[in-house]
Amino acid sequence: MERLVISGETPLQGGIDVHGAKNSSLPLLAATVLCHGQTALHNCPELSDVAAACEILSYLGCQVEREGRTVLVDATNVTGGAVPDSLMREMRSSIVFLGAIAARVGHADISFPGGCELGPRPIDLHLRALRKLGLEIREDRGSLECTVSGRMKGANITLSFPSVGATENILLAAATADGTTVINNAAQEPEIADLADFLNRCGADVRGAGEGVITIRGVERLESCEHTVIPDRIVAATYLCCGAATGGDVEVRKVNTAHLAGILPIFEEMGCQVKTSNDSVRLIAPKGRLKSVRDVRTMPYPGFPTDAQAPIMAVAALADGTSVFVENIFESRYKHAAELARMGARIKLEGRVALVEGVPKLYGAQVMATDLRGGAALVAAGLAAEGQTVIQDIKHIDRGYERIEEALRPLGANIHREL
Ligand code: UD1
Repeated sequence: MERLVISGETPLQGGIDVHGAKNSSLPLLAATVLCHGQTALHNCPELSDVAAACEILSYLGCQVEREGRTVLVDATNVTGGAVPDSLMREMRSSIVFLGAIAARVGHADISFPGGCELGPRPIDLHLRALRKLGLEIREDRGSLECTVSGRMKGANITLSFPSVGATENILLAAATADGTTVINNAAQEPEIADLADFLNRCGADVRGAGEGVITIRGVERLESCEHTVIPDRIVAATYLCCGAATGGDVEVRKVNTAHLAGILPIFEEMGCQVKTSNDSVRLIAPKGRLKSVRDVRTMPYPGFPTDAQAPIMAVAALADGTSVFVENIFESRYKHAAELARMGARIKLEGRVALVEGVPKLYGAQVMATDLRGGAALVAAGLAAEGQTVIQDIKHIDRGYERIEEALRPLGANIHREL
């Protein structure tokens, strides 16, 4: 099994480009199922989760090719509506294919995605919404048999929580529905607006994406288009964390700075200088120690993103004073805390709250990536720590960061991958 080996304590210096957003690429790839003709998705990162989404597309009968960062999908001959259990399990967010498949071929047979590293991962909001749109869903021992007679039907849907995945599933199912769909309390994440932009470019009529109420007037058919995936705001945040934790001076480039508005104030509170320009953010860490943060509360966008909680915790572990974290989105998202503790971090967990009492130094250790962003936190901690850190189980990190060791090395990071 591959592992990352890091020798820490080098302040990172220099510029680093951010790749396209994983969390946009996955629903966009699902959306290509709806299109007639060949779609080109540019800036589509080379990640294992993206490869899994492409496998699902191939399984459904799409022609899929990758040319560098561009993925070409031709869904003209979509034949199947079934996704095998093994592919569903490879990526929990594969549930977002349901709305698109059902709308395109009228039926879908998939397995229930089940729980994951972040705790239970229910899909009740997805299913309730899709049923309102006319999908008949039979749940049978972990599998879902779904059918719709004719087109999906427009409906008025109010989400009890602004779920990102459920909002995406509704957009995909409603784009070619008969009639108008209104989503109240929709998720407002930038990835939702990216999906709506794509659908509109294909001929859909989606308004209000990025706001709490989205209106989708169903159209009969979507054509293919070319689209460029938005930058990955969580990858950008992670690189900034690596800069802050090592006392460095880094510029993350090719980002949308507006998407980072909920994150950047935390770095400033910690005593970093943050300078934003058109499409880049430069972070200069303080000369002395970082300061603790009063509280980091994860919230739906535009609040502080749950996906950046773990990497920021690695930075807070080194700050002067105690930082309070409150995880409001997922039930079990502190698995990295125990791994950071192996490196000398002092973290107390109490349900959804984590108290991080900063220490002057972290020390290299053998640690395990427990999940994607938890793994990224260990990279940031390892780069700052004295001595050598070995991170095992890095398949989690590869789900969301394109060859992270190669990305960080030009900044002076001493990090490499070993078999
Ligand atoms: C997406 C992101 C993930 C991010 C999360 C929150 C992708 C591929 N993943 O995940 O990186 O951490 O948004 O920003 O885009 N919930 C229910 N029932 C449902 C659906 C969700 O109870 O039917 C709950 C979840 O258990 C969780 C919360 O709602 O506690 C948020 O989930 P959701 O916004 O749906 O996240 P995902 O779309 O799964």
